[in-house]
Amino acid sequence: MEGEGLMQSGGRKRERPARIGPGLVLVWLMVATGWSAGLATAAQGSPAGGAGDAARGRSLFNGKGICFYCHGLDAYPDRLPQLAQDTASFVARLDPKPPHLREPKGLKVTGDKERFRLIREGHVGTGMFPDASLSDQDIHDLLAYLATLRSSSETKDESRR
Ligand code: HEC
Repeated sequence: MEGEGLMQSGGRKRERPARIGPGLVLVWLMVATGWSAGLATAAQGSPAGGAGDAARGRSLFNGKGICFYCHGLDAYPDRLPQLAQDTASFVARLDPKPPHLREPKGLKVTGDKERFRLIREGHVGTGMFPDASLSDQDIHDLLAYLATLRSSSETKDESRR
């Protein structure tokens, strides 16, 4: 709909050549729809609230959420799955590397609100892409799972939530 508008105005204004090819429009549509979807769900659910189910979070982590592609099966970095060659080399080249989610000391994100946002929106500037297929509840479940990981190896660091 808006894509058509773009093309039309591009065609009318002769001084600016309309260089909007179908590919670019497609990319733009993906970005636009992904964005509004993310914004809509972010407005509905409050990231802070909602109890997560850690067991469900674990299966999301090792499944639909594909977190294990980069963070390893059950969040053990040395337990990466067998991926297609190009995916595997993409993961191997990530810089910064995916952090060890069971090692609270090496983690930078300190609150679930921020974690929620980074899982929903992806880590800008890193290899962690946004996952629009996860619902708010999915993310709460992931957060509950991540919390059990941190506390299982945690020594004593009360500042980490
Ligand atoms: C494409 C690889 C990739 C995938 C898939 C991925 N991550 Fe990440 N993740 C990263 C990288 C790389 C970082 C580190 C970014 C940085 O240091 O700035 C990161 C950081 C994080 C952090 C912040 C750690 C900290 O420093 O406190 C959390 C939490 C996290 N990921 C959880 C997840 C979850 C949950 C999923 C699945 C929904 C997921 N990740 C999927 C690569 C990935």
